[in-house]
Amino acid sequence: MGWGWCCRLTEMEIREDVALAPFTTFGIGGPARWFVEARSEAEIVEAVRWARERDVPLFVLGGGSNLLISDKGFDGLVLRIALKGIESVNDGASDGASRLFRVGAGENWDEFVSLAVGQDCAGIECLAGIPGTVGGTPVQNVGAYGQEVSETIERVRVLDLESLLFVEMTAAECGFAYRSSIFNSTQRGRFLVTRVDYRLRLRGAARLSYADLRKVFPDGSWPSLAEVAAAVRRIRQSKGMLLVEGDADCRSAGSFFKNPVIEVLYLPEITARVGAQPPTYPAGDGLVKLSAAWLIEQAGCHKGFRMGSVGISSRHTLALVNLGGATAKDVLALRDLIRERVGRLGIQLEMEPVMVGF
Ligand code: EPU
Repeated sequence: MGWGWCCRLTEMEIREDVALAPFTTFGIGGPARWFVEARSEAEIVEAVRWARERDVPLFVLGGGSNLLISDKGFDGLVLRIALKGIESVNDGASDGASRLFRVGAGENWDEFVSLAVGQDCAGIECLAGIPGTVGGTPVQNVGAYGQEVSETIERVRVLDLESLLFVEMTAAECGFAYRSSIFNSTQRGRFLVTRVDYRLRLRGAARLSYADLRKVFPDGSWPSLAEVAAAVRRIRQSKGMLLVEGDADCRSAGSFFKNPVIEVLYLPEITARVGAQPPTYPAGDGLVKLSAAWLIEQAGCHKGFRMGSVGISSRHTLALVNLGGATAKDVLALRDLIRERVGRLGIQLEMEPVMVGF
């Protein structure tokens, strides 16, 4: 694959035939026909115009931690968002209870979590150890261990690809729900995130609602934010959900399926089909969330299950892993097998990672 220079915009170079697999945590996928990295909003607009003038499809790449790229790659322009910068402002209530962070979309998420925790700012400590960039967090409303970014996001700055104008949206306008926002549902493909503003609680207490964390910090303990973030990283690592050099289980896209949300009414039917009572989590208004990992195991696919060069993580059933040299086709074959088996239990599993170039 060539890495020839195709053309030069003001500051940016548009490269041709760039391998995309190294930009993903899965390590899978063919090349981008064109590839450019934007470090400013002006560069983003320039890249978008370049693609439009040539009638070339555009794909916006962040941290690559929630992606499955096709084996033939992407026949268009891949725009990697590299906008940096973290500004913090104390503009909270009169008692100075909160701090607002304005964070460039290309900042590394976990580094931002460490910075916030280091400044004793609460609200994202349970989201430590998640791979990817800040810009991806509002898109799928990143959540883990009892927190979701929707609880702390105040505003999202985006480029509207219809008008080519920058717009600032409030959290309400983002339409957040479990693993979703307008950015990956109703308005998919329309907006490109350039900055996210999080309002965090200065000297706030850590959130200790998730069972895994309560085991580490029982009632009555008052761990610091840093202790909670460290515990979350340890738990994630034990599940193969922390990127660690040389750890084969983390060559994945994190959870490969969403946890299905069903009406409570259907629970007896699922219980009868599975032959066991599924663990459930409240999901509001007559709904419950089931554990996709549990369902997959009930369907006969276990940790460490292998199918050629792909498999199920040996530490968490929800992560499909590239065992070395896997193709997107291999991943989809395993996905279909799992879906088919879980389908027999009466549940259609929905994929979580974004598919590109299919
Ligand atoms: N379980 C199994 N087998 C497993 C793992 C889990 O049966 O191998 C069952 C157990 O009943 C367990 C339950 O699933 O109690 C929940 O497991 P876990 O706490 O690991 O959470 P999860 O529902 O599998 C979700 C997120 C993760 C997030 C964790 C922690 C989704 C799709 N996944 O996983 O997010 O880290 O909760 O909050 O919502 C991601 O999105 O990529 C991701 C890693």
